[in-house]
Amino acid sequence: MIIAIDGPVAAGKGTLARRLAAALGYAYLDTGAIYRAVAARLLREGHDPEDEEAAERIARSLRMEDLNAPELRREDVGEAASKVARIGNVRRVLLDFQRNFAAHPPDGAPGAVLDGRDIGTVVCPDADLKIFITASPEIRARRRYEELRARGEAADEATVLADLRRRDERDSNRADAPLRPADDAHLLDTSNLDIETAFRAIREIVTRHCGHWPGQAG
Ligand code: DC
Repeated sequence: MIIAIDGPVAAGKGTLARRLAAALGYAYLDTGAIYRAVAARLLREGHDPEDEEAAERIARSLRMEDLNAPELRREDVGEAASKVARIGNVRRVLLDFQRNFAAHPPDGAPGAVLDGRDIGTVVCPDADLKIFITASPEIRARRRYEELRARGEAADEATVLADLRRRDERDSNRADAPLRPADDAHLLDTSNLDIETAFRAIREIVTRHCGHWPGQAG
């Protein structure tokens, strides 16, 4: 069972996808972390995030453990990741990594939840279930701002909103695998939902889709 969860930055998809995977006993892959890991290493090695050759070389040597580095959550790394994500050869290399995870979830898990921008459209077009999670830019910027503040990082809400709009624009308008809902995706707008209510909505989508709750737990 493969569940694809896509959506723009700060719509809540990471938190919801992770929780869904845990509740179902499935493996979870944050595919944004893959682009972030490539971007972080490019920056660390002093390359430009748009250096196609270096980015492809790094993408080819990516390992699972690279996805857990705390630096991946930095704003500059997210911004660079969105640039790296426009490079067609990088996307092609990373496609295998993602499809392999979905086809063979680690630790013998009976399914996988992948979240990103193009899981339902390109990485796993045959996923059993696709959910596209969104929220208004203003709400997403507010959440992101509060998250940064909670981490003790200096942030200005207007700047966070401007950055987020720029990321949306870049992710949605690139030539290769742009951010968009798959035709057969269920849409969930979390603008007016707190995380608990949004998670209940996801559980309902899964239960309705499968005819029953497919997990072992709760
Ligand atoms: O979800 P995130 O903010 O961690 O993603 C960082 C960047 O990676 C995002 O701006 C676009 C890119 N990305 C992508 O192109 N395709 C994916 N499946 C996931 C992320």
